[in-house]
Amino acid sequence: LKVKVNGVTITRPYSIASTPKDALQGRYELTIKKEEHGFLTNYIWENWDVGTRVESSGPEGFFYYEPLRDTKNIVGIAGGSGITPFRSIANSIIDGSIDAMLTVLYGSSDEEDIIFYDEFQALEKENPDRIKFVHVLSCDVVSLEGCEKGFITSELIEKYCDVKNSSFFICGPQVMYNFIEKELARFDLPNKRIRREAFGEVKDVLALPGYPQDLAEQTFKITVHVGNLSKEIPANASESVLIALERANFAPPAKCRSGECGFCRSRLVSGTLFISPISDWRRSADKKFNYFHPCSSYPTSDLEIVIPRTL
Ligand code: FES
Repeated sequence: LKVKVNGVTITRPYSIASTPKDALQGRYELTIKKEEHGFLTNYIWENWDVGTRVESSGPEGFFYYEPLRDTKNIVGIAGGSGITPFRSIANSIIDGSIDAMLTVLYGSSDEEDIIFYDEFQALEKENPDRIKFVHVLSCDVVSLEGCEKGFITSELIEKYCDVKNSSFFICGPQVMYNFIEKELARFDLPNKRIRREAFGEVKDVLALPGYPQDLAEQTFKITVHVGNLSKEIPANASESVLIALERANFAPPAKCRSGECGFCRSRLVSGTLFISPISDWRRSADKKFNYFHPCSSYPTSDLEIVIPRTL
């Protein structure tokens, strides 16, 4: 979505909860969860109403079922609002667009946190051979029938899935990826069997391996060149270069905010960066010629950069 907030254009990626068939009818559904510290999500909740016109790009990314690549057993591992693409996949199986079976392990902190509970119950009841949702709750008291308590561990995955004959799709918050990656590593699966949805900007860069903790509190200076314009802006070491640009009213093109789409691709003229190891999807030629993605890069010195113009 591309939204103007206080005169600044902000972009954020959201997974699509409806199906490709719905899109052909001119309808997209997004599920936007209100978050305590969410910037754009809160703005949307407070300002959007029925009839609000919104601007978005077309669908982007690689998080979809591809029969030539993926097995007929799809295992979805979801956390929080990361459930939305599995609603789309489940409904695509039911409408005949996807010929596969879906098992979703859906982690939530408590029962209140579960999205689409009734809808999933109904889908599963009507299609018991093709669709299964397993709710995994991390709270102490679980009263909902049929739920698992705890986290999505390798034991739980083995309990519900034919691991060696499945393709895994993961979508959720960053902390869930850190946990699930370790659990899935025990199965020694080929890379192509694990698909990951881009999760947006890294929430806590200080927790990433290799981040220079001693610089976290520092503010650096970035000299930005765009077209014929040059400007100096401040940048916090613990915030991405993209955030620094947006704070200074630059709005370079950006979609995934996870280092994946390449839309924000910029050139580093001088200075040094910490690049998030979990979001470094740059091509090797880009690495060699000092191109970087501001959405997944953090200043570790004063910088001089060239950014693309707003689309
Ligand atoms: S916004 Fe996609 S790589 Fe930066």
